[in-house]
Amino acid sequence: MTDPRLAELSRLLPGLRLLAEPGDLEHYGRDWTRRWTPAPLAIALPTCADEVQAIVRWANARHVAIVPSGGRTGLSGGAVAACGELVLSLERMNRVLEFNPVDRTLTVQPGVTLHAVHEAARSHGLIYPVDFAARGSCSIGGTIATNAGGIRVIRYGNTREWVGGLKVVAGNGELLDLNRGLIKNSSGYDFRQLLIGSEGTLGIVVEATLKLTDPPPSSQVMLLALPDMEALMRVFALFRAQLTLQAFEFFTDHALRHVLAHGAQRAIDGDHPYYVVTEFDAADAGDQEAALAAFEHALEQGWVSDGVIAQSGAQAAALWRLREGITESLAPRRPYKNDVSVRISAVPAFLHDMQALLAHEYPQIEVVWFGHIGDGNLHINVLRPEGMAEEAFIAQCDHVTRLLAETLQRHGGSISAEHGIGLVKRAYLESTRSPAEIALMQGVRGVFDPNGILNPGKLFAAAGTPRAC
Ligand code: MLT
Ligand code: ZN
Repeated sequence: MTDPRLAELSRLLPGLRLLAEPGDLEHYGRDWTRRWTPAPLAIALPTCADEVQAIVRWANARHVAIVPSGGRTGLSGGAVAACGELVLSLERMNRVLEFNPVDRTLTVQPGVTLHAVHEAARSHGLIYPVDFAARGSCSIGGTIATNAGGIRVIRYGNTREWVGGLKVVAGNGELLDLNRGLIKNSSGYDFRQLLIGSEGTLGIVVEATLKLTDPPPSSQVMLLALPDMEALMRVFALFRAQLTLQAFEFFTDHALRHVLAHGAQRAIDGDHPYYVVTEFDAADAGDQEAALAAFEHALEQGWVSDGVIAQSGAQAAALWRLREGITESLAPRRPYKNDVSVRISAVPAFLHDMQALLAHEYPQIEVVWFGHIGDGNLHINVLRPEGMAEEAFIAQCDHVTRLLAETLQRHGGSISAEHGIGLVKRAYLESTRSPAEIALMQGVRGVFDPNGILNPGKLFAAAGTPRAC
């Protein structure tokens, strides 16, 4: 560790674990995007809020940029350190601190995985309802920094609904105790909500108080095959009216091919353009009859071509794998990810426009669609054609994203529904937020982090900076 700044930090915090071996820099300098070459200064692994605060104060004095780091499962480059930043990994702050049975809250450190939060809630007969496929690896701090969504937003909303309190070290080094788990608090600006989804540009979460709720009654999982997008939206309207939905997720035959090639089991024979995995409450025979009636009605109308209802927990898991396994099955192709949203009512028109545009402009590129159709959130993954160089591929993807951004603007949508802007989408922020909004966002950042040391280059680019800095 030859850098004198690191020697100074070590003297300041003798107990702090600092890593600077090439393998560590590589490991902690990237997220799941795999697009940038990791090049951090070093990795700091604090074990408490005091250490985080001391690091942030030191970084302010020395003008060292910090990249806050959780499970690094992000898909927008928000946790990438490619420009000599200090990675501040929260993985050693990984304890569940307190369960409060009266408030029904769980207070945790930021490095606890989402899966561990689920387990802790379940051990008290409750649930933390935010859920998605990366649950085993992502950290709760990262889910708060990105206001993570996932597969149950249709029922429970995004992360911001479930955070009752936050302790945060702001970019200026102040330790803030925000909202303290209060349900009602009309005492001015709610900084807790401002911090949620700020992608590590305002402060670093050092403790979170999460709201828990009752588990839903037992549920059923159904896989549906559908002939077209119009039918899909009709089935969604029908199921939402007749059943109490917990999830309503879609994917295309193209996505299915990838996931089957990756080891998942086919559940419906034949070729169908679209599929839905849906989960709904099935507390009693009445619920089950309602589900069957809705399915039969959809079949009679020709909105559904085929369907399967899981008969066991194992079968339900196998059906879910068809949807949740898509990201992993595409990962070896290093897809360029788009994660967009429009109002549910705008989904068919947006999809129609976008599919027509892509078919016209890029008939040769492979595009895989899937996502949380019940929330108006679509994932559009562009796969690199065999033999195409990385730079040419990225240039093509940038153009696709430009088309996407224009189409979204026409439909009033957002360029990021749940993954965040990070590095990947910062050039397109103005397609979703007005110049007046962006100016206010930058002003807020300046108040929380006057020296701009927290995650610089993420969310907005400083003019003239290279791509990842
Ligand atoms: C998902 O919905 O599976 C996640 O957002 C991950 C992805 O988009 O690949
Ligand atoms: Zn998603």
